[in-house]
Amino acid sequence: MCPPTHFRVTYSINPWMDPSKPVDLPLAMTQWEHLRDLYRSLGHTVEELEPHEDLPDMVYAANGALVVDGKVLGASFAHPERQDEAAAHREWYETNGFPGVKIPEHVNEGEGDFAVTERWLLAGRGFRSSPLSHPEAQEFFGRPVIGLDLVNPSYYHLDTALSVLDDSGDGEVMYYPDAFSEGSQAVLAKLFPNALIAEEADAKAFGMNSVSDGHHVLVPQAAVGLFEPLRQRGYEPIGVDLGELLKGGGSVKCCTAELRD
Ligand code: ARG
Repeated sequence: MCPPTHFRVTYSINPWMDPSKPVDLPLAMTQWEHLRDLYRSLGHTVEELEPHEDLPDMVYAANGALVVDGKVLGASFAHPERQDEAAAHREWYETNGFPGVKIPEHVNEGEGDFAVTERWLLAGRGFRSSPLSHPEAQEFFGRPVIGLDLVNPSYYHLDTALSVLDDSGDGEVMYYPDAFSEGSQAVLAKLFPNALIAEEADAKAFGMNSVSDGHHVLVPQAAVGLFEPLRQRGYEPIGVDLGELLKGGGSVKCCTAELRD
């Protein structure tokens, strides 16, 4: 995770970002610290990445890389405003026990567009990551990539439209169908016939940007429609308020890069 020390909304690269709306930075920090402390209280280890003054979106740490089996595929950002984040992430991995970060040939925004289950890499395309990043990831990780077409600009990253609840076996996910092309909806229905299907209100409240450890699911708290269905499936949903970071177009998952070793 990367603290929002220099977070601000001064440019707009997704429909949620409105530079005319003020951001309450101390509140953003409090909300972010709450998320970090929550992970720790649930027994998870949180590493912190040094924020850079010129990179306000660095708080969305999920975009900096994809780590699977201890192997790291670096990111390459679609927008020039974020491009320098890639090197900052790469440096962190290189000096913290993940040497040999692969510098990608094609644009990919890390876990923003890649989700991982035991069997597959689910990979979004349409707004940010290049379709060519999909075979690149497949070759690097040796896992089959399932390409999914995102069609609604409000759900510009896969992690705004789909969340892995349980990555073991066939995997369990929740997703918002309207964010995907018809063909990709059909693919998801085939792979995940028992998925939790989200309503528009919960997707709009960034509910798909949740993080699950297989039991606890940290859910943007305004996505109230998800709590009961998650409980019925045996999960323990925990509401998290990241309202200030929503102004940049991100929430729980965007702020969290998973180190899968
Ligand atoms: N402002 C950032 C952008 O538009 C938000 C990134 C959110 N991160 C995510 N994993 N969806 O790139």
